[in-house]
Amino acid sequence: MSKEILNITDCRTGRPYEIPIEHETIKAMDLRQIKINGDFGMMAYDPGFTNTASCKSKITFIDGEKGILRYRGYPIEQLAEKSNYLETAYLVLFGELPTKKQYEEWVYHVTHHTFVHENVKKFMDGFQYDAHPMGILVSTVAALSTFYPEAKKVDDPEIRLHQIHRLIGKMPTLAAYSYRHKMGFPFNLPDNDLSYTGNFLNLLFKMSEPKYEVNPVLEKALDVLFILHADHEQNCSANAMRSIGSSNADPYVATAGAAAALYGPLHGGANEAVLRMLAEIGDVKKVPEYIKRVKAGDFRLMGFGHRVYKNYDPRAKIIKQMADEVFEVTGRNPLLDIALELERIALEDDFFVSRKLYPNVDFYSGLIYQAIGFPTDIFVVLFAIPRTSGWLAQWMEFLDGPDRKIARPRQIYLGEPTRDYVDLDKRK
Ligand code: CMC
Repeated sequence: MSKEILNITDCRTGRPYEIPIEHETIKAMDLRQIKINGDFGMMAYDPGFTNTASCKSKITFIDGEKGILRYRGYPIEQLAEKSNYLETAYLVLFGELPTKKQYEEWVYHVTHHTFVHENVKKFMDGFQYDAHPMGILVSTVAALSTFYPEAKKVDDPEIRLHQIHRLIGKMPTLAAYSYRHKMGFPFNLPDNDLSYTGNFLNLLFKMSEPKYEVNPVLEKALDVLFILHADHEQNCSANAMRSIGSSNADPYVATAGAAAALYGPLHGGANEAVLRMLAEIGDVKKVPEYIKRVKAGDFRLMGFGHRVYKNYDPRAKIIKQMADEVFEVTGRNPLLDIALELERIALEDDFFVSRKLYPNVDFYSGLIYQAIGFPTDIFVVLFAIPRTSGWLAQWMEFLDGPDRKIARPRQIYLGEPTRDYVDLDKRK
């Protein structure tokens, strides 16, 4: 058998180097020995981390070429069909499906951490009436850090678990309050008799009725969407979570940082952008013209393309299948026809085919959210709720891992060499 070694010859010096290979990867630090005359040594340059593994992980597996997604080894299709969000969150966080007892305890603890301190509500009340719900959510999650100062003890397993219960439990409450604030509606209390997504719908939509009646189809659809969004390995927000967590920051501020990364339209903000795009197109007949402009580089087709998937995003496939069940309850979203036509044309067009641009998770999720009655600017908030389990799983794996080190990338400095300060009156 061949040795797991990469031979490199530095043509500048003629010196050979043997670099060990593990998991088809070399350690960037092994390049540092390649140097001329005792200089700093060789580095790898990889903006956007397109070919750099930042960690070893056992949480989520993606094969982007084949369109495969698994959490802890379980195919996403099986989890979407048979599991529920809280069970999947447990799996993502702790590595195994829970036993019945573990499941019941987990649900109990999460459910009993859904209320927020009254001062949190006052804090949220301070936002402008038209503040974006995601801006409110990011800030309020960060503010939780001030309510639970013990969370700083990130290496205490009991304290850590307590914050996980709090974050998973309170996220739907904060998300719903960010929406109710914008609408000018009073905040609802959590209803602990309901499921995770049933309670979320109650928090959002209950008005004067004494008990909110949850529609089981919508409750299930939201639950499946939450499962699909629970984790997605080293994406922009997971990377932010690990990076912030690497300074031993508490999980509230780290989660707020991850949520801020999610907010951007190239990441979790894309489903909102898809809906705006579909509304802007407005008519199936205008799709070819829109595609022409995308190909001319005027703008991107939102909800298409992915850094990792070079095939149909498996999450988009599940959502597309589920859409009909939801539309049976809510009525068909008129924008669906435009989406289907966009997909049909794009999947036949060489511009998209040659670049392997397929619909991603955000292409259809927004249509379902809109049909359920969510306003577009809360879509990204809906993404943040379930992704909290993924962020916390990434954070814990980092903290307990053997390679725990503060994130601190290198740079290639291309600025001015040293020069002397010039007094203001002498500057040209
Ligand atoms: N529409 C048109 N062209 C595109 C698109 C798109 N949506 N996405 C990529 N391209 C083109 C891009 O112009 C480039 O072409 P060329 O080689 O001629 O310059 C090529 O495809 C490669 O693009 P890239 O920007 O180098 O690819 P990336 O891996 O850096 O970007 C992406 C991935 C998701 C940011 C990008 O595909 C995109 O902007 N998509 C639209 C936004 C979107 O839907 N985001 C949601 C991602 S899934 C949810 C999540 O995980 O957050």
